[in-house]
Amino acid sequence: MTDSKVVLQGRYELVGELGQGGMGTVYMARDMRLNGRPCVAKKLRDDFYVEEDKQKAVAFFKREAGVLSCLQHPNIVHILDYFEESDNYFLVMEYIEGRNLYEILQERGEPFSCEQVVGWAKEICDVLEYLHEHDPPVIYRDLKPTNIMLDVKGHVKLVDFGIARPCAENADNTHVVSAGYSPPEQYWGAADPRSDIYALGATMFFLLTAAEPVALHPSSPVSCNANVLSYVNEVVECATAQDPQSRYQSARQMRDALVSPVNMKDSSRRKQLIFALAGTLIVVFVLGYNKFHEMLNSSQQQLKASQQIITQQDQEKGYLRKKLRTYSRAVEAEEKAIRELQVKVKGQPGKTSDVDNGAAVVAQVVDERELTDPEGLLDNH
Ligand SMILES: Nc1ncnc2c1ncn2[C@@H]1O[C@H](COP(=O)(O)OP(=O)(O)OP(=O)(O)O)[C@@H](O)[C@H]1O
Ligand SMILES: [Mg+2]
Repeated sequence: MTDSKVVLQGRYELVGELGQGGMGTVYMARDMRLNGRPCVAKKLRDDFYVEEDKQKAVAFFKREAGVLSCLQHPNIVHILDYFEESDNYFLVMEYIEGRNLYEILQERGEPFSCEQVVGWAKEICDVLEYLHEHDPPVIYRDLKPTNIMLDVKGHVKLVDFGIARPCAENADNTHVVSAGYSPPEQYWGAADPRSDIYALGATMFFLLTAAEPVALHPSSPVSCNANVLSYVNEVVECATAQDPQSRYQSARQMRDALVSPVNMKDSSRRKQLIFALAGTLIVVFVLGYNKFHEMLNSSQQQLKASQQIITQQDQEKGYLRKKLRTYSRAVEAEEKAIRELQVKVKGQPGKTSDVDNGAAVVAQVVDERELTDPEGLLDNH
């Protein structure tokens, strides 16, 4: 800019340079029609060597204006105007009082805390969800720290929709990548909503470590900064997976993982849960096993006692049977002796008293046996 005032469209006065990007220069400006209200004018660069490149850049620039004019979200910069003047293209936007995250980190010289980064990442997930669910869906395609502004209220705002485009559009812009932040598929022009997830993961890596993410590699912030919480590390690793299928499949999924670490692929939390569960199972098993053992012992004792009772009863039954047999034999012997005596007496009249004597002898013999072997145990006959 020269010292002389530059007023565009008779309305926007350029007052200073805010930043230089790959696409052009961003000026601080004042809207003279609205009492000098601050605004920003982005001018498309005009130093292209090849006319074809210029045409492409103009097409991107127009598309940036077109995309922004359709969007309305508190975390997306508002577009105010778009015009061509003296063969230059301009985009006028609201002025965001603040700086981009790259500059803030450079100045501070050290990584941000996990809490801080997670807070911003959740807000960006909200914006991505809004873009991806827009009709038609918009893929941002250039998420990186220089394109994220932090306003004075501490909220993030996305600027630079230069390569953002509706999902279905097949423009030839496959070569537009930001090394380290663009996912592998974007190098061959196959960007989809998961490509923005990758870029957010890579951006989180930078903010958590102050190191640039390595292009075409999954990022693991804990390898550069041991203070990074393991669940945050896992979110970044998952988001920057090289295969889109292995990433969060939507911004909502990624935000859920950031909001409730238990629901996400956080191995340390998962491990803690598994250990807790295993511990509980072991305690339950040990207690259960002891109880089971106690019950088993008591039923074994009961069984033994019942077996002893049965054995005793069997023995008693055996004694009684033998006793019965002995008595039967004694009675038989007595009856036999009586019968023999009766036969003898029949042949000798007047000798009846001998029958009584004989019966007495037999009875005596039986009684003696009863006395010497009452249980009949010595009687083997
Ligand atoms: N609306 C705005 N309010 C305040 N500052 C802004 C605004 N828009 C852009 N900037 C500043 O200007 C810088 C460059 O803007 P932008 O990213 O839009 O340009 P670019 O040329 O597309 O950059 P690049 O291609 O390198 O990403 C931003 O990083 C930011 O610091
Ligand atoms: Mg930019």
